[in-house]
Amino acid sequence: MILDQVALPHKVEYIPCTDYKMACRCIREMNVRGAPAIGITAAMGVALAARDVSAPDYAGFVKELQPALDELMATRPTAVNLRWAIDRMMEFVEGMSGRPVEEIKAALFEEAQRVLDEDIEINRMIGVHGSALIRDGARVLTHCNAGSLATGGYGTATAPMRIAAEKGKRISVFADETRPLLQGARLTSWELMQSGIDVTLITDNSAGALMRKGEIDLVIVGTDRTARNGDVANKIGTYMVAVLARENNIPFYVAAPLSSIDFTMASGDEIPIEERGEDEVYNICGGLMVAPEGVKCRNLAFDVTPAKYVTGIITQKGVFRPADLHLLVDPAADLEAAKL
Ligand code: MRU
Repeated sequence: MILDQVALPHKVEYIPCTDYKMACRCIREMNVRGAPAIGITAAMGVALAARDVSAPDYAGFVKELQPALDELMATRPTAVNLRWAIDRMMEFVEGMSGRPVEEIKAALFEEAQRVLDEDIEINRMIGVHGSALIRDGARVLTHCNAGSLATGGYGTATAPMRIAAEKGKRISVFADETRPLLQGARLTSWELMQSGIDVTLITDNSAGALMRKGEIDLVIVGTDRTARNGDVANKIGTYMVAVLARENNIPFYVAAPLSSIDFTMASGDEIPIEERGEDEVYNICGGLMVAPEGVKCRNLAFDVTPAKYVTGIITQKGVFRPADLHLLVDPAADLEAAKL
């Protein structure tokens, strides 16, 4: 069941996702969105696709599964969690090579469930490490939705806020509304209100003014794909927030599970950036025309914030400088010493 994020916050509705085609549709049309949630849905999509394979032998099973994997992989380009989850599921299949197909099919459902369960724990650890960066009384700015709705548990960017609040710190959150799909307005403010965390919704173009007035203490955002050098792809507008934070001497943190870090990409220049339909710009959430008929639009869904603007990356293993991210895949590295 997928909580339909297109309908939120006006309607709380669930979409039954009973085959992999439906999983593809829900990712493509953003009924489910946010990098880790896309990964979890893809993992479950692989299990559903595998269930419907008719080939009785291992080689036939893998061959028949491939088109579904390709279709899932093509749903959205930027969040690396999609590829990460599909690769993980297929490595799992390879590990069961030669075993009866029915056994593999059943085990894939368990593996998909593990992807979800692990994400919940990863969120919690990001929260534990990140909450140390939030002092009592802090005012935190976030962009888009990197919250519970975007993950399996506490969210990534919101996990430090949630854990800080649980520890009794008084915090307040400023949520950028996040044009054009308004994830900040529709989703972040909704889920934080549900959790009793003080949240103030602002227009995207207010962030700089509030920073300059001294009303923001730190920024925490999520990421769809962070390159090995610490360049961060996240929702369009994140780059502007990061530059403004630097200009105003405000720390800018990125919460990133390791599944969102693409160690195969040397820099953010290589990250594929999704461009979506013009209609999302001139027609607010499919309801209100805000521009003249026929106006030309560009609709980049993500931007890349260069690593030099990032104070630290909050992972489940601790908080690291962007330049030290590569140590996370170096077996000889002393991670304790590298922590911020
Ligand atoms: O287009 P979306 O809504 O999928 O974009 C989501 C974001 O940019 C999030 O900040 C990112 O996926 C991190 S979610 C923990």
